[in-house]
Amino acid sequence: MTRILITSALPYINGIKHLGNLAGSMLPADIYARFERMRGSEVLYICATDEHGTPAELAAEAAGQSIQDYCNEQYELQRAAGEGFSLSYDWFGRSSSQQNLEFTQHFAERLEAEGLIEERTSKQVYSIDDKRFLPDRYVEGTCPHCKEEKARGDQCDACGRLLDPVDLIKPYSAISGSYNVELRDTTHLFLKQAKMQDTIKGWVKNSDQWPPLAKSIALKWLDEGLQDRAITRDLSWGIPVLKDGKVRPGFENKVFYVWFDAPIEYIGATKEWADATGNSWQSWWRKDQGASDVSYVQFMGKDNVAFHTVSFPITLIGSGEPWKTVDRLKAFNWVTWYGGKFSTSEKRGIFMDQALEIAPSDYWRWHLMANAPESSDAAFTLEQFQATVNSDLANVLGNFVNRITKFAAAKFGEQIPTGGKPGDLETKLHLELDSRLKALTEYHSNMEYRKAAAETRAIWAMGNEYLAECAPWTVIKTDQEQAAMIVRTALNLLVIMGIIAKPFIPDTADKILSAMNVPDNNRNWPNESSRTLLDALPASLPFSAPEMLFKKIEDEQVEEWSKIFKAE
Ligand code: MF3
Ligand code: ZN
Repeated sequence: MTRILITSALPYINGIKHLGNLAGSMLPADIYARFERMRGSEVLYICATDEHGTPAELAAEAAGQSIQDYCNEQYELQRAAGEGFSLSYDWFGRSSSQQNLEFTQHFAERLEAEGLIEERTSKQVYSIDDKRFLPDRYVEGTCPHCKEEKARGDQCDACGRLLDPVDLIKPYSAISGSYNVELRDTTHLFLKQAKMQDTIKGWVKNSDQWPPLAKSIALKWLDEGLQDRAITRDLSWGIPVLKDGKVRPGFENKVFYVWFDAPIEYIGATKEWADATGNSWQSWWRKDQGASDVSYVQFMGKDNVAFHTVSFPITLIGSGEPWKTVDRLKAFNWVTWYGGKFSTSEKRGIFMDQALEIAPSDYWRWHLMANAPESSDAAFTLEQFQATVNSDLANVLGNFVNRITKFAAAKFGEQIPTGGKPGDLETKLHLELDSRLKALTEYHSNMEYRKAAAETRAIWAMGNEYLAECAPWTVIKTDQEQAAMIVRTALNLLVIMGIIAKPFIPDTADKILSAMNVPDNNRNWPNESSRTLLDALPASLPFSAPEMLFKKIEDEQVEEWSKIFKAE
């Protein structure tokens, strides 16, 4: 059996994620996990909250909570939002777990033993009033190049240049606004990435299953030359830095940098899962203990690619131990919100909890993936959301389900009718279905979601086309048997439509399949010929016409939501 490890980029703890985050990592990962499970692969789908770092600390402070309470509460909210969207994680962990702490400290120890870590002292901006060192993006000041007064320490948005915070003129703290700042010496652990340049370049070049977007981002970083980077920070919230089992001297008020420990949590969360369920985490992660036959697939937004193709592999490979590294990587562009960006800090856009308050999760899942930001950014608008839901879900799928089950029940009772012989139209139907199912399977395997959604929609549309061609409502007036055969074929087609809908819209698919009394173990991904599939339901099997599956979105609703979400 194929074993597939799937991870989606870990959402930051500070606040429920917006639809853009969902569309670029968790949702496609879920669809891939569902598809692979349906075709019999052994899947482990892991995600977690990314809990460390300054933003979490500041958000807790703003909420008037201890950081631990804040994280506990936010974790619970994000877990519930994921459940609301039917994200089928095998485990949703936390980077603040004991498991992650132990792995993170282990990797640092290994990297140091391999000569890849050293202490270095450098100058950083310290805010006397905030009593803390300021991470780059929390220092602001005048840009030395264009004289913009609100340039961020890492980059000037006005002229686009990358900056070093120590170069800012009149620097101040973005946390308190205080100008009472100075440069102070601070010592950190540096990961000597430059030493790994050739190893990583070789590894990237050999990664033959990456899509072009991921490969080009990784190679661009490598061409610029890898820089050594600090993997610790002056902060109290995070994973402590050790030496020989005790706090490392001089590092009493320091912790690991959030981007060092976050990807390690992919392993940490797998161990959280293993500890809770009695499974083995090693067989997924250690190539010396069974993981060499695992296919590891990662999902993420494009801003995360460099960390996953360069930094995290340096941690894994640099350790000198046989860790599993990524085989396939699916990266996404952005979903945009009325010409701008979705933004957590500015509360721009729609967030996962709000979305579920106004429409069922399947509506969002379908719209976001049918318009996935794959080859370019994708613009989200409420008008397009309405159009997709009304046309694809309500008119194409919903309408067919409704027509065929009502007609069948009225003419033959609520059971699969018998009699009649398939003819030319049925042959045409199964041939088209064979080729469409083949294409759909390929798109899912290749993680091409726009194409997979278009093909799914095309198969749904076949139902209405078949009925239009056969016109069972006319046939039944003269030939009861022939009409029974048409209805039976259409009901079988409906089951196939429900099965292939499962990765995208699992809740609705289950409603359809349950109404048709299809047992759980018969809901696997179709791999027989469609001729067999179109005659699979046992004669006289009872079914019930499912309740209304989709409610059309009205113009008034769009208008109201536009006001609530300031969609303009
Ligand atoms: N929290 C990061 C973000 O939202 C992603 C972390 S991915 C991980 O951009 F692998 F590092 F965990
Ligand atoms: Zn500038």
